Amino acid sequence: MTSLTRHDRLPLVNNETTGQSGMCRSTLTINGMVVEAESHMTLVEAAWAGGVPRTSNVGCLEGVCGSCRVMLRRGKVVTVALACQTFVESGIEVVFLPPQEAPHHHYRIEELSDSWDIQARFHEIFPEAAHCRHCHGCGASCPKGISVEEGVALASTGRFQEAGEIFFECVMCELCDSACPERIAPAHVGLFSRRVTAHFHLRPPNLINRLESLRKSEHSHE
Ligand code: SF4
Ligand code: SF4
Ligand code: FES
Repeated sequence: MTSLTRHDRLPLVNNETTGQSGMCRSTLTINGMVVEAESHMTLVEAAWAGGVPRTSNVGCLEGVCGSCRVMLRRGKVVTVALACQTFVESGIEVVFLPPQEAPHHHYRIEELSDSWDIQARFHEIFPEAAHCRHCHGCGASCPKGISVEEGVALASTGRFQEAGEIFFECVMCELCDSACPERIAPAHVGLFSRRVTAHFHLRPPNLINRLESLRKSEHSHE
């Protein structure tokens, strides 16, 4: 999924424009406050423009830090999203979600010294992962369109490199963790997979080659 950048947020103009600004306006509710906003605004910008008391959970504004978690209600349909990546719509109700509670899985990657027992250690650290009920809640809640459930299944069977690749675009918003009825913490399963892959595998060959050529050029100037 491509992230919005500031450049993407161009004004939209249509027949319902207001005379003065030439921009379409939308009325929505943010954290219980009725807000009027221009349609090119993201939900974060609308909250700021509408005077919604500042939420602490806004960071990069580029869809990278995963902090601006919101719940959206459109009629009877409730979904979640990243507020800096979602444009305003008339009639929607938006609630900024508090940060996820501290993770309850603890480990130190440097203590994993033997790659043969990673799978056993994984199940000690994430015992809930074996109880995935395949409810699809994690995937449905992911604003990055990641196949979260598949990543959890791969990690559970010791395929950490493949799991890490699935979670490559994860921004650690932890919306999947909030959605999981088994408290599996899929975001942290993904993070574990990426960490053990980096810990036990060689770095990418193009990076190794580049470092080697830098090292050689340093020596040639000595
Ligand atoms: S995998 Fe989970 S933490 Fe990562 S972006 Fe998707 S919902 Fe957020
Ligand atoms: S939300 Fe939890 S239980 Fe449901 S599919 Fe995802 S990991 Fe499995
Ligand atoms: S503010 Fe960083 S993802 Fe929205």
